[in-house]
Amino acid sequence: MIGFATVPGDGVDGYAREEVTAAATSFTHAPRGWTDVEAATLTTAALTAWRALFVDDRVRPGDTVLVQGTGGVSIFALQFAKMAGARVIATSSSDAKLERLRELGADHVINYRQDTQWGQTAWDLTGGKGVDHIIEVGGAATLEQSMAAIRVAGHISVIGILSGVAGQLAIVPMLLKQFRLQGVLVGSRADQQAMVRAFDSSTIRPVIDRVFPLEEIVAAFRYQEGNRHFGKICLAF
Ligand SMILES: NC(=O)c1ccc[n+]([C@@H]2O[C@H](COP(=O)([O-])OP(=O)(O)OC[C@H]3O[C@@H](n4cnc5c(N)ncnc54)[C@H](OP(=O)(O)O)[C@@H]3O)[C@@H](O)[C@H]2O)c1
Repeated sequence: MIGFATVPGDGVDGYAREEVTAAATSFTHAPRGWTDVEAATLTTAALTAWRALFVDDRVRPGDTVLVQGTGGVSIFALQFAKMAGARVIATSSSDAKLERLRELGADHVINYRQDTQWGQTAWDLTGGKGVDHIIEVGGAATLEQSMAAIRVAGHISVIGILSGVAGQLAIVPMLLKQFRLQGVLVGSRADQQAMVRAFDSSTIRPVIDRVFPLEEIVAAFRYQEGNRHFGKICLAF
């Protein structure tokens, strides 16, 4: 398992560049026929979602997976969960984006701005059984709702901090539901190779919202901050 300090582009700065020299073991093949821009979506967003659902857990047909918002990690998680035959509950702050989530296969959608108790709504959507696996990208403001939605002995993958890095944590739901709360930091090379094999035998392609030239990297980050995107924002080199 890798630590934050060694993750390229995260703990290790300097990856907005055209050439990188690294050990061959730092790379994997891209899925067959994918463009460079498409392949660039895999190493962080897709790999993290893959690891959460298929390495740290084993999502099965008939399971229920909940994904939060419409960023890169969550859209890949939705695609992977549908590939595995799971039922997907997806949330967004935008009704227009909820429609797009449905088009991608989401079985149930919830507007988390309008329905602030969306954890209970998700619980009800499972007939009171609870959600098997949650892709938790919201952090401080979403964890409480995730704990309301999760089933007994379910699995919450703690991936993101979009709504803040610290908050109050209720301990009692953990005892009552005995769920697993697991931090996730991308994945290993072996995980990525397994994911690429899966892409090679599926029709899934990344959902890319917009591609900026490298020179416009600042505008790309500003665009991301605006939360108007759906899926990945990419840089073309
Ligand atoms: N641990 C890891 O290895 C790892 C890997 C990749 C990313 N991350 C982290 O995971 C998070 C998501 O990454 P990303 O690349 O998918 O981000 P992103 O593409 O920027 O996703 C942004 C979207 O998240 C949704 N969102 C924002 N605040 C939310 C909230 N309070 N509740 C629910 N959804 C909310 C919004 O969706 P709507 O507009 O639809 O509401 C927003 O458009 C970030 O914190 C990122 O740093 C961690």
